[in-house]
Amino acid sequence: MLRNDLRNIAIIAHVDHGKTTLVDAMLKQSGIFRANEHVEERVMDSNALERERGITILAKNTAVMHKDTKINILDTPGHADFGGEVERVLTMVDGVLLLVDAYEGPMPQTKYVLRKALEQHLKPIVVINKIDRPDQRVEEVIDEVLDLFIELGADDDQLEFPVVLTSARNGIAKLTMEEESDNLEALFKVILENIPAPDVEVDAPLQMLVNTLDYDDYVGRIVVGRVIRGTIHNGETITLMDEEGERKAKIGRLYTYEGLKRAETQEVGAGDIVALIGLADANIGDTIADAESPEKLKGISIDEPTLSMVFSVNNSPFAGREGEYVTSRHLRDRLFKEIKTNVSMRLEETESPDAFIVSGRGELHLSVLIETMRREGYELQVGKPKVIMHHDETGTLQEPMEALTIDVPQEFMGAVMEGLGLRKAELTNMTEMAGYLRMEFVIPARGLIGFRNQFLTDTKGNGVMNHVFAGYADYKGEIPGRTRGSLVAFENGETTSYGIGNAQERGNMFIIPGEQVYEGQIIGENSRDDDMDVNPCKKKHVSNMRASGSDDTIRLIPPKTFSLEQALEHINDDELVEVTPKNIRMRKKILD
Ligand code: GTP
Repeated sequence: MLRNDLRNIAIIAHVDHGKTTLVDAMLKQSGIFRANEHVEERVMDSNALERERGITILAKNTAVMHKDTKINILDTPGHADFGGEVERVLTMVDGVLLLVDAYEGPMPQTKYVLRKALEQHLKPIVVINKIDRPDQRVEEVIDEVLDLFIELGADDDQLEFPVVLTSARNGIAKLTMEEESDNLEALFKVILENIPAPDVEVDAPLQMLVNTLDYDDYVGRIVVGRVIRGTIHNGETITLMDEEGERKAKIGRLYTYEGLKRAETQEVGAGDIVALIGLADANIGDTIADAESPEKLKGISIDEPTLSMVFSVNNSPFAGREGEYVTSRHLRDRLFKEIKTNVSMRLEETESPDAFIVSGRGELHLSVLIETMRREGYELQVGKPKVIMHHDETGTLQEPMEALTIDVPQEFMGAVMEGLGLRKAELTNMTEMAGYLRMEFVIPARGLIGFRNQFLTDTKGNGVMNHVFAGYADYKGEIPGRTRGSLVAFENGETTSYGIGNAQERGNMFIIPGEQVYEGQIIGENSRDDDMDVNPCKKKHVSNMRASGSDDTIRLIPPKTFSLEQALEHINDDELVEVTPKNIRMRKKILD
């Protein structure tokens, strides 16, 4: 049965190209809202951290109505560090909207998701937004998108993508610049005509894949996926199938997406995307199948965690106690809650009730959690990231490897190769693209620690990197290079100051000039540079220092009453980094 009343699309957009504005405008014009009702909430990026870092961490769903057709719009994550999130979103849709700013053109950061979408033979629609900009270059931007599609291996059908020109801000869409328009009708029309309606059997035995997990304090685990076959009913008994086996379970309430909300419903037919509660132990990749004649769907593999960190209660003398949540109970509850939805994250308890080992898919994965917790008011300490090692059957030490793909303009090739060489990466493939080089490496997961920031600096933000787990291999030996988070001493006339080699972005840090400990604060918007090699201070008293590689200023607040000795006493434990709601302070060994 062709479900002409339904379309499922994913939206791919670079930060600031207008995704939120466009979805808001579509909602306003979609008839779900009364004419005088405003879409107050920003739809897609509700997580403050996502907004600041400019990355979308969790995929979120919205649905708009156009006449009798519901369009489910799924957001795609901005990068691929978190275990197959992109693939999981793309398996739920039949087409993608690539949203591109009419002046900026396609940006390298969207390439990873776009490539995945093209590989899955999804139908793309190109939306050139902000055509009201006086500096718009619509024609050129369309050519740039075409070049990008060719580079990414689009098939012939995909290369004939429809183009819609929009001003999301003004709520208008049209097919040519000359056309008159005062609404988004042209966009809706192109979506309905080009994105295939799901062609499904609604009367067959139920099959649904668990694609995403969400969590709510009141209702617990929320399972999200697309009904592949059949119809799912409120309260029905189903068979839940995973790799190990199958068992009967009862569905709780069902919800579909309606505008910004989830709306409760009695049944959901094949083709639609459903959120449901009641299956407290369903996992990503499980099949929800008919009770009587269950058939399993092909599961989804989730990348292994490769990096772990100790999270512990902050018991140090530097503890700020600014936090709302400071006890081991708080920490424990929060971490257990996290792993309910963060599918490639693992949690282990330790002998101490105050410390937990958290494992994830790389530094960014873990640092997003730390930062989110910090903002929520947790005060904690985290250890140095450690890769998760194994021994093979013969007892040989093995370490996790990652397949790293890098796209950079030619001019940065040298810098990137040099950085990666030191990190024991091996080049496995290199392809020349239009103005770009794609380099593929196999690198020990250890080698990626601290690499993202170095890479952003080395390529002046023009590079794109992604990595996927590539199995275990024999340990490659020490990786030389900079010690992450070391205190670095700077001489400047009468003053010697110690800056933190690698402070976290937009956090606080310690500067220790002479005998006193200053608390510094890294300020500035949207800094992605957490590589704070602090330059020698220009003045006698430390003020107004600049962090290399970024425009961020380090502001110093009045000295605390610690002496240098006192500070060093606590610094010689090279494991700990303190994270408090207001500060991120790092205490590390002084370099000789
Ligand atoms: P993130 O939420 O940061 O991922 O960005 P986004 O892609 O959702 O972009 P958002 O909708 O927040 O828009 C970014 C900026 O572009 C905002 O200042 C918008 O007002 C502006 N903007 C969006 N659409 C248009 C448009 O059609 N024309 C113009 N001139 N500006 C627009």
